[in-house]
Amino acid sequence: MVANPVSQRLSNRRILLGIAGGIAAYKSAELVRRLRDHGADVRVIMTRAATEFITPMTLQALSGHPVHLDLLDPAAEAAMGHIELARWADLLVIAPATANTLSRLAEGRADELLTAVALATRAPVAVAPAMNQAMWANAATQANLQTLAARGIRVMGPAEGSQACGEVGAGRMLEAPDIADRVAAMFESRLLDGVRVVITAGPTREAIDPVRFISNHSSGRMGFALARAAAAAGAHTTLIAGPVHLPTPERVQRVDVVSAADMLAAVETALPDCDLFIGTAAVADYRPAEVAQQKIKKQAETLSLALTRNPDIISRVTQASPRPFTVGFAAETNDVLAYARNKREAKRLDMIIANDVSVPGIGFESTENAVTIISSHGEQSLDRMPKEQLADTLIHAIADAYSQQHPNP
Ligand code: PMT
Repeated sequence: MVANPVSQRLSNRRILLGIAGGIAAYKSAELVRRLRDHGADVRVIMTRAATEFITPMTLQALSGHPVHLDLLDPAAEAAMGHIELARWADLLVIAPATANTLSRLAEGRADELLTAVALATRAPVAVAPAMNQAMWANAATQANLQTLAARGIRVMGPAEGSQACGEVGAGRMLEAPDIADRVAAMFESRLLDGVRVVITAGPTREAIDPVRFISNHSSGRMGFALARAAAAAGAHTTLIAGPVHLPTPERVQRVDVVSAADMLAAVETALPDCDLFIGTAAVADYRPAEVAQQKIKKQAETLSLALTRNPDIISRVTQASPRPFTVGFAAETNDVLAYARNKREAKRLDMIIANDVSVPGIGFESTENAVTIISSHGEQSLDRMPKEQLADTLIHAIADAYSQQHPNP
């Protein structure tokens, strides 16, 4: 768990940073680094004037994404157009916001990328002004600020002190850590802010020969829905997925695997950065003892395959030190609750979600599910509902149990 409250608020957030053309633009580089260190995904828009003060290359390297410069650039529009950028953002912060940019924002101009995105976004907008003290004090600038504040745009700073132009007064842009703190404070806290969640999903495939495998009917839907819900609850979410045909949920890091051995390796790689593990994967319990190098030919009437046990991934998780809060699933066709309770004990799980897969229309492959949550605090049945909705309910229950074990410092 990330204990820093700023990181908790910023983890998994999408921050669009607008940089206007002022000497304070050099501080924007530090701001990108700070926001990213706190777990935010940062994209940068620069005005042409800003590129005179700091290079797009610097901002690209620090943000890890190409910098957006022009409104009418067909290549950039094809990759991520201004409307897409506006939709992508959880928050637009313009730092530095020059007197010119504040004026253009107040006017509602849409003739260059930054102000066009500011007009198009539904996300909250903040500005960190930076300019000469006389420009700041000018009635025109103050009137623009009032207009912007009346529209709900948050004004951060400026600070007072000596300025790059040699004068002293109000107009210095706030320092990057201060802006990052204020940006964080603009977000509501979420259930799993800053918690690092690893989820396994889907089936595994155990090769028999180069063209055949043993597997099961898991579609990955339950695990993908949980990954979406965990990320929406603020978790850094890693989804380790067996072979499925599902799109990656937003803000989720996906690792694709095929066999149980691959899944175990991916889980072991993820474990040092895992606070909460959820095993929804239907891992094959056995694999062929030997994988034929060539396609097995049809000959005799019967064919016997020797199988060998796969490692139990979730049991490895509960043996790890430090041990994440661990939630398993139990897919059963009979004596569902009794088997699930036993599995919780045997695998030393904090919680298990019992899934009666004998009922038509729920469990494997279907879009709906009904489950019972079993933990040391008791049992709770959840009636049939779409997996997406169930995932939100489960993430609430899991986050509650997790926070009881990990009260906020
Ligand atoms: O993918 P969907 O089509 O949406 O279907 C969802 C689901 C039915 C697969 C899911 O809701 C579910 O119940 N997943 C668990 C499936 C299962 O096979 O459970 P199990 O009883 O075999 O295993 C118990 C727990 O141990 C599970 O958390 C499992 O991930 C884990 N396990 C099992 C075997 C193994 N070798 N390693 C493991 O980690």
